[in-house]
Amino acid sequence: MKPCLVPLVFIVLFLSASCKRATPGPDYQATKVVTADSAAVVSPHPLATQVGLGVLKKGGNAIDAAVAVQFALAVVYPRAGNIGGGGFMVIRTKDGQAAALDYREKAPLAADRDMYLDSLGNVIDGLSTMGHLAAGVPGTVAGLFEAHKKYGRIRDMKELVQPAIELAERGFRISPTEARRLNGFQEGFRKYNEEPNPFIKDSFQLGDLLVQKRLAETLKQIRDKGAAGFYEGPVAEAIIAEIQSGNGLITMEDLHKYEAKWREPVIGQYDGYRIISMPPSSSGGIALLQMLKMVAPYPLNEYGFHSTRAVHLMVEAERRAYADRAEHLGDSDFYDVPVDSMLSDAYLQARMASFDAAHATVSDSILAGNFKLLKESFETTHTSVVDAEGNAVSVTTTLNSNYGCKVWVDGAGFFLNNEMDDFSAKPGVPNQFGLVGAEANSIRPEKRMLSSMTPTIVEKEGKLFMVLGAPGGSTIITAVFQVFINVAEFGMGLEEAVNAGRFHHQWLPDAILIEDNAFPDSTKQALEAMGHSFNTVGRMAVIKAIVRLPDGRLQGVGDPRNPDDDAGGY
Ligand code: DON
Repeated sequence: MKPCLVPLVFIVLFLSASCKRATPGPDYQATKVVTADSAAVVSPHPLATQVGLGVLKKGGNAIDAAVAVQFALAVVYPRAGNIGGGGFMVIRTKDGQAAALDYREKAPLAADRDMYLDSLGNVIDGLSTMGHLAAGVPGTVAGLFEAHKKYGRIRDMKELVQPAIELAERGFRISPTEARRLNGFQEGFRKYNEEPNPFIKDSFQLGDLLVQKRLAETLKQIRDKGAAGFYEGPVAEAIIAEIQSGNGLITMEDLHKYEAKWREPVIGQYDGYRIISMPPSSSGGIALLQMLKMVAPYPLNEYGFHSTRAVHLMVEAERRAYADRAEHLGDSDFYDVPVDSMLSDAYLQARMASFDAAHATVSDSILAGNFKLLKESFETTHTSVVDAEGNAVSVTTTLNSNYGCKVWVDGAGFFLNNEMDDFSAKPGVPNQFGLVGAEANSIRPEKRMLSSMTPTIVEKEGKLFMVLGAPGGSTIITAVFQVFINVAEFGMGLEEAVNAGRFHHQWLPDAILIEDNAFPDSTKQALEAMGHSFNTVGRMAVIKAIVRLPDGRLQGVGDPRNPDDDAGGY
């Protein structure tokens, strides 16, 4: 339905029923803030949020809703929603049990630590980001079935896949942002794919109907055969045929061997708050807790929001956490990650011994690389869900770049990830997010590449308080850190905390990345006088969060940084 054909009465009813509306879509609109008595869902797309709310209203719990939202995002948010990628899910049940599910992609069995290097040992530009060789073994479908098996309430998983099938088969009208992205990536689509292809077109317009028949068939295989409908049979054969057509490495054995893994969540205390977050193969939880513990001894609330002292302290904590990330973090199945030591109070106190309240610490320049300033816009999905009983899910999944490696599995209708770029292709050489790494994150067959995704749940005085996470590559961890600090230390409501300008330091490059106009020029000048320097970017990570209000209701907040972010509840 094109906007001009929407009956006026519908528009009036729709607008009057909504609270805060952002950019209008064709026949749906994104709500940025919702207050709900019982349950809430915040996702990167209104149609996916609707699917999640529908599952909750039918008696599903937060895990069921999160699973259905992921399948829906694979259809309505093709730039990052996926079945060709991977992700992480953090769960807190109504009785306080915490769990973390790792369904990150894995390096194929045939992968090699030097697979992206030329004969002189230099990283070959683009090989880990574009095309078939950039794809890791997808984990999403295995992860969603595993989460549902352990925690789902709606017994028949078919009900959670069906809404996505309908969206793919019937089609949906694309948002302005999706139209822009689709137009922006045509060159890559044409390079790696053949026509006809629903994603190849001279010009996409907002409101175009995107029908994905092949994806619908794939989702039906998954609906009818479970995870085997993806990792075996015709869908698996289509993936392998696609991979072989472009000299990729993934084999049938890789698909058969893929398993999602339950991990011990990383948990830490910050004042009266208990933080539950994602352990390796993500760096998110450990780095977040390190930063929180490093700033905890200082009176941030007295310093004040975006004061020079507060920004300086937080930047110095970020710098130290990202330096540790580069050296010590990788897939704990392959590398002995010293989690306890990295989170010990004594270690973090020692780490801050070099903190100088008046001067920037100079990052060690030994591993300095050629920082490429986030040349692609951010895309990943995060969904936060709280159900009426108080079960909570924080789930982040990704293809890595927009539309992953740009390869669309011809016989199965979805994009493959380019997650291999999250490995350290060569020690000290930055990936597309400017992150450097070392042995801990080197490529090994079947190893998971290190992530920054930080799906997080926060308790306050023993009760569920906040669910949050974001897309945004390396800036995810600092965004989660800052939004939480905005609430916990600077007394902000969730909307203000999410909307506030952000800054980010990742050790290397040795500069603070800030959003345009994130803070006053006076703060910037004072920080420069202390030895800090700046890079500016339009926007960083895009938070989707839910908070429990003092009166017991829930507030869901989508980030204005993504016009499609949508909060729903009832
Ligand atoms: O796992 C990671 O850290 C990245 N692959 C996430 C990518 C992302 O958030 C994309 N947005 N820029």
